[in-house]
Amino acid sequence: MTSPRRLLLVNGPNLNLLGMREPGIYGAASLADVERLTADAAAAAGFELRAIQSNHEGVLIDAIHAAREDCAGIVINPAGLTHTSVSLRDALTGVGLPFAEVHISDVYAREEFRHHSYLHDVAAVRVIGRGVDGYADAVRELTALIP
Ligand code: DQA
Repeated sequence: MTSPRRLLLVNGPNLNLLGMREPGIYGAASLADVERLTADAAAAAGFELRAIQSNHEGVLIDAIHAAREDCAGIVINPAGLTHTSVSLRDALTGVGLPFAEVHISDVYAREEFRHHSYLHDVAAVRVIGRGVDGYADAVRELTALIP
């Protein structure tokens, strides 16, 4: 059976402020820009995109659970939850969909507390420090793995 031709894009806490938030680190693109460029990359790969951003961990977890029904993979920038959330990791491993972990900034060149990711070892794809274009790269790398 072929997988559904849909991806879920998940952006975590504070990413609604993209474009306004620390532009020296995260750049000038807004969340709407990110969702558009990711949807374009998904379309080019033959996939639809459903996008969610939330500042609430449980909302993100519910969206990941729902993706089990109709998505073939997940592109996620978990933002600060990357470094803190066992529950988000458990949601992703629990649904069993391949996922790409994206970070706009180079977390390894920043504070030490950003060097650890609870998702790193279970992500199918990792795209770190390529700016917002990293979302499109993540779509390309992830969809290449989906049968
Ligand atoms: C981020 C990096 C995280 O450390 C940070 O908490 C974010 C954004 C990034 O995209 O570079 O909110 O995930």
